Amino acid sequence: MRLRLLLCLLLSLPCLHAAEPEPPPLTEYKGRVIAQTMHWTGAEWLLRQNREQEENAARMISELNIKPGWTICDLGCGNGYHSLTMSGMVGEKGKILAVDIQQPMLDMLGARAKGRGIDNIRTILGASHDPRLPEASCDLILLVDVYHELSHPEQQLQAMHKALKPDGMVALVEFRAEDSTVPIKPEHKMSKEQIRREWLPAGFEIVREFDGLPWQHLIFLGKAKTAPAPDAKEVKAPGQLPSTTPSAPSSKPKK
Ligand SMILES: C[S@@+](CC[C@H](N)C(=O)[O-])C[C@H]1O[C@@H](n2cnc3c(N)ncnc32)[C@H](O)[C@@H]1O
Repeated sequence: MRLRLLLCLLLSLPCLHAAEPEPPPLTEYKGRVIAQTMHWTGAEWLLRQNREQEENAARMISELNIKPGWTICDLGCGNGYHSLTMSGMVGEKGKILAVDIQQPMLDMLGARAKGRGIDNIRTILGASHDPRLPEASCDLILLVDVYHELSHPEQQLQAMHKALKPDGMVALVEFRAEDSTVPIKPEHKMSKEQIRREWLPAGFEIVREFDGLPWQHLIFLGKAKTAPAPDAKEVKAPGQLPSTTPSAPSSKPKK
């Protein structure tokens, strides 16, 4: 009898530990249309010759003030444009947690790192709603041209908040929606106002803004020292769409 009980208990354990089911993806969030995921077949675009000129990535990276020994998450790392650069800056004692939801992107990054003899990049296959980061592990989470694609912004914001060290910081890079001369499709851009509308109620505060990139915002967010104002949760965009509307990857170029 006891043996049977023990067996039943053991058989039920996997169910207890089963992963949380993925909530439905959204197509809209707080008045913003969520962009489709950039498909890995378009990954060459991320390595285009004029990217440096368009984005001044060298300046963006220097604004991050990266220290040797840091753990940095490159969330939505793609084929590793930024992961490879940052891996040298954190040195042997630091590491890069390179997260993406598309395994072929991670494979391309892995091959590029191997070709350069880099071994401090750990690739992580994230889920749409969960970057699968260790708790309180990151000095910095970098999102370049990614956040606007997240189909589960609320769950991802919560997960980033948890994954940051107490003094950790998020560096959010998004094409400027306020600037009509930036030749990127509207759903792949974000305004500062929209960023505030989504990030502040999630327990973040803006620590610093750098406005010197050619086309993008660079906004630093840390864990808020005080709880968000009650009405921060209610701030709506003019003519706001329902805050949640259920979403697929696209290989279409962004311009
Ligand atoms: C436009 S690419 C940018 C890649 C890289 N950050 C760069 O600047 O070169 C966006 C990347 O975000 C990834 N992505 C989209 N949703 C994601 C999610 N929920 N978690 C992790 N990565 C995601 C896509 O698979 C794609 O590789």
